[in-house]
Amino acid sequence: MRRFRFRASVILPVLALVLAAAGGVVAGTQSSDERSLQPVRQGADRGVERRVNDLLSKMTLQEKLEQIQLLPDFMVTEDEVRRGLGSVLSVTDPARIRELQRIAVEESRLKIPILFAFDTIHGFRTIFPIPLGAGASFDPRVAFDDHRYGARESAVVGLKQTYAPMVDVSHEPRWGRIAEAAGEDPYLNSVLGAARVKAIQGADYSARDKLVASPKHLVAYGQPESGRDYNTTDMSTQRLRNLYLPPFKAAIDAGADTAMCSFNAINGVPGCGNDETMNGILKGEWGFDGFVESDWTAVAELRACPPRNPDTGPCGHGVAADGPDAAALALNAGVDSEMTSTLIRDFGARLLAQGRISMRRIDDAVRRILRVKFRAGLFEHPYAPVAPERAEAEMLKPDAVAAARRAAGRSMVLLQNAGGVLPLDPARKTAVIGPLADDQHDMLGPWWGAGRDADAVSVLDGIRQQSPGATYAQGCKLSNAEPPTTDPEGCGSDAGFAEAVATARAADQVVLALGETREMSGEAAARSTLDLPGRQEELLRAIRATGKPVAVVLFNGRPLALENVVDDAPAILEAWFPGVQAGPAVADVVFGKVNPGGKLPVSFPRRLGQVPIYYNHEPTGRPCDPEQKYVSRHRDIPSCSPLFEFGHGLSYTTFEVSDLRLSAATVSRNGSLRASVTVTNTGRRRGDEVVQLYLHDPVASISQPVRRLRGFERVALDPGASRAVTFTLDKSDFGFYDNRGRFVVEPGRIDVYAGDSSSATMTRSFTVR
Ligand code: BGC
Repeated sequence: MRRFRFRASVILPVLALVLAAAGGVVAGTQSSDERSLQPVRQGADRGVERRVNDLLSKMTLQEKLEQIQLLPDFMVTEDEVRRGLGSVLSVTDPARIRELQRIAVEESRLKIPILFAFDTIHGFRTIFPIPLGAGASFDPRVAFDDHRYGARESAVVGLKQTYAPMVDVSHEPRWGRIAEAAGEDPYLNSVLGAARVKAIQGADYSARDKLVASPKHLVAYGQPESGRDYNTTDMSTQRLRNLYLPPFKAAIDAGADTAMCSFNAINGVPGCGNDETMNGILKGEWGFDGFVESDWTAVAELRACPPRNPDTGPCGHGVAADGPDAAALALNAGVDSEMTSTLIRDFGARLLAQGRISMRRIDDAVRRILRVKFRAGLFEHPYAPVAPERAEAEMLKPDAVAAARRAAGRSMVLLQNAGGVLPLDPARKTAVIGPLADDQHDMLGPWWGAGRDADAVSVLDGIRQQSPGATYAQGCKLSNAEPPTTDPEGCGSDAGFAEAVATARAADQVVLALGETREMSGEAAARSTLDLPGRQEELLRAIRATGKPVAVVLFNGRPLALENVVDDAPAILEAWFPGVQAGPAVADVVFGKVNPGGKLPVSFPRRLGQVPIYYNHEPTGRPCDPEQKYVSRHRDIPSCSPLFEFGHGLSYTTFEVSDLRLSAATVSRNGSLRASVTVTNTGRRRGDEVVQLYLHDPVASISQPVRRLRGFERVALDPGASRAVTFTLDKSDFGFYDNRGRFVVEPGRIDVYAGDSSSATMTRSFTVR
């Protein structure tokens, strides 16, 4: 059986199995989730198209321009709604949503309902682990559950669109938004992105617990120069097509009916003024018939900034001279809905009269928006499925909270465990120490949706539930303040270290909660170092000097450079930002109720200077060798590798992946073959292993990455048990895009690697004829 392929035809049966295993499919009936597992590009439903055209024929030009407008709640006036405003974002109060919708459907001339949108990125109220953490689960069901419950809670307040999934592949750990997607690999992002779309939309997003998904940010937003958010990107066609576009394609194939264009420029052309990516690839090549919304003021940002007066609103890219120019560029390049800035609405009539935009294109944009509104069932059900006063009762329901706890546990990665420090014994006296030990706020991560700090269970409380009487000391305090401040990261004083050391001394074992605040990740949160902020490394050394067994638990939204940490921390558990159930999930893993099985979805460098360092890099003519001079190395780093590689993660048991076999020695370009391995639990505990399959094309017309992930499966095994895992490979795996944007399948040898991380050594080869 093919495992976790991102094409709809292949991932869907897998998800069906996943759901069946979870009890999500009831025999004889079809839940909306189950129906979502059928390949359902909704395509041109003639009924919908007729209704769209009918409505369009009644609209004035001004009403069309109002439909194109998407405004944040704080900019919306009731009069605006009466004039026919298209969409509203960032509103979560169910009473407010209901009232605005009432005005739209009762008091506007054509009674077109508003589409309400929100960033439900890793949960609405029940906050799940950050998407980078979900990436570490290597489990599509974790991503699926996140958005199944996220969609359900969002729908309850009257939302019908979510700006998710974020599927920006990134090799840039300084960038704060690396937290929001599944890391450095296009395949992993594709599989999890498709699972998220399926969960958000179901088979039919008119279902009352479903929303329309909006993969973002088209495209290559994950590669800003120097890691500064919004910064420019320059890249080859082959990289764009091989690394950055595949997760978008997977999300669209999974049925996503809206998409968001990006802030960044690619080769000088901003995402929201980019004819090639929006019109050419998304709408042309991929046949996308939904709508594209701009990112926040991204249309206005196309403008050049005036030389002397910088206060005329968003501007900067300089691909448009002024507002009208930006509006024409964005609309003509494929933006259908303008977020926050109002240039298309303001200047549309003038631009039309001047012949700079066409009525055909305005109609196309409006048609796309109305099509989504009809498919969403908004005309039949403009209001939320429950009354506003009943919405609160639908939040944080036990099934959602249990799924969040499970997801958090499955996302954790055991980076090292020298001497088997973990799991700890809950019966022994536990000290919980560190700036993130008694913390609810940061546990929710950088996109906390409608989450509330009070909903989160701290590590201290979670540990105390399983190890009663656990003691606590903070050690030092991280800062949640926005720079510029004198101490932007916090933890700058060792005043609390003595108390922390005394607390450790009085206990049998220590859980040390270190990392970043949630403000250090997410949008506009680039860091220029990847170290543990403040004096946390010193705190670790002070605690370590007590001689007590210490397990470091890390909370962070990006790969950290842990070179100065690894020797002082025998056990390191990477917990990311785990969400509302942080404490219980950490306790589950620390005390061994849950055996960690996550794997890194990004490489962890030794130090910042290695960045970008990623497993799927191209080779060079002077491969890195720390012993040689004229090779591709850093002279001051005695290693070529990251500290922890992509796909790395340990367990409380041990596994062996063996016996790699291929079903054929040769394959035709359009043919397929199977690769199979056996995975065995060779230790003494039940646990999970993620079997990983990588390909390398050693001789190609353009130099191919040294490895590319093309299959994975997370397998749970009892001690001594074995399982065969089989992956099917075809041209989508051994072909690639060239620099003219063509997908090519070249004859020759392909090397297959299988194992438990990206440094797997077991290999076989086959030949493409
Ligand atoms: C972000 C988007 C987000 C939008 C609306 C922007 O600043 O880049 O990811 O969807 O705001 O909140």
